Amino acid sequence: MFKEDALEGKRILVTGGGSGLGKEMSKHFLSHGAEVIICGRRDSVLKETEKELAKTTKGKISSFSLDIRDSLAIEEAIDSVFASGGLDGLVNNAAGNFISRTKDLSSNAFNAIASIVFHGTFNMTNSVGKKWIEMKTPGNILSITTTWVWTGSPFVVPSAMSKSGINAMTKSLAVEWGPHNIRLNCIAPGPFPTEGAWSRLSPETENNEGALDQSSMSSNPMGRVGEMSELGNLATFLMSDGCDYLTGQTIAIDGAAYLSAGGTFASLGKLNDEDWTNIRETIKKSNEKDKNLRNTK
Ligand code: HXC
Repeated sequence: MFKEDALEGKRILVTGGGSGLGKEMSKHFLSHGAEVIICGRRDSVLKETEKELAKTTKGKISSFSLDIRDSLAIEEAIDSVFASGGLDGLVNNAAGNFISRTKDLSSNAFNAIASIVFHGTFNMTNSVGKKWIEMKTPGNILSITTTWVWTGSPFVVPSAMSKSGINAMTKSLAVEWGPHNIRLNCIAPGPFPTEGAWSRLSPETENNEGALDQSSMSSNPMGRVGEMSELGNLATFLMSDGCDYLTGQTIAIDGAAYLSAGGTFASLGKLNDEDWTNIRETIKKSNEKDKNLRNTK
């Protein structure tokens, strides 16, 4: 879809880059010429991913462990990333989430999510942004949110609230940091199955097949989950040059799932030709009845 050198010369830091969506986006960036730095909490996972992606993409990749709940550790880490060769892009991908009835959540449970998603993403963004402003260099920030920023979502309230905060941050800083040539956008992915997210959001129990299992995707207008290459392509587009005027936006990539849930007639997608013929006849009859009534007056 893109030229192989679409991201040539760019140095991109991906949080949570050792697994899941972060790993997939990193693979795409490396395949398109970027140098990628991945960080996350588990050093062994990072090292394994680093080795695998270096081999499969032949790109330049490095890693360091970082818990984005620790704001001091973030400052130190960002200092050393800039000291080792600067930075062109940041991808805020690291997140934490689990499904639970909200009434069962303790304040610790809320903080377990908010400290990563809400506080951690802000601290990463501000640490990197401050450097770019100080150095008078342009920058590009991509944050991974969800479509819940528009719809809200039951049973994942700490995540929906925190991701909505990232959405607000992105729009606010696009304006505040636009004069510094720093742009910020979000991708709001729908269901892209990953081991980390699915084990916490779609756990299978005796009476529950898992809320996000493949069969439940029949309600998705496109009838399927997302493919990683589709997410990787969108992320590559947003991290590349050529559309630098694009900032402050959140782009959903979900097969129109969130729009269909909101539309009054979304369920009509299941009707067949015969149903539609019958519906047309019924409406026609009703129109004729109205016309007759008007004519008799
Ligand atoms: C209720 C729970 C709970 C649960 C934990 N807690 N799990 N409460 N239901 N299922 C409570 C605990 O009792 C405790 O509160 C508090 O939360 C902290 O628990 P810990 O076990 O110490 O949690 P912690 O080690 O901080 O781990 C939580 C986590 C972890 C950080 C969120 O699951 C994690 O590492 N996740 C990273 C990967 C991940 O979640 N990926 C999914 C992202 S997907 P008390 O009061 O007892 O102390 C995503 C969007 C997907 O973001 C969009 C799909 C469409």
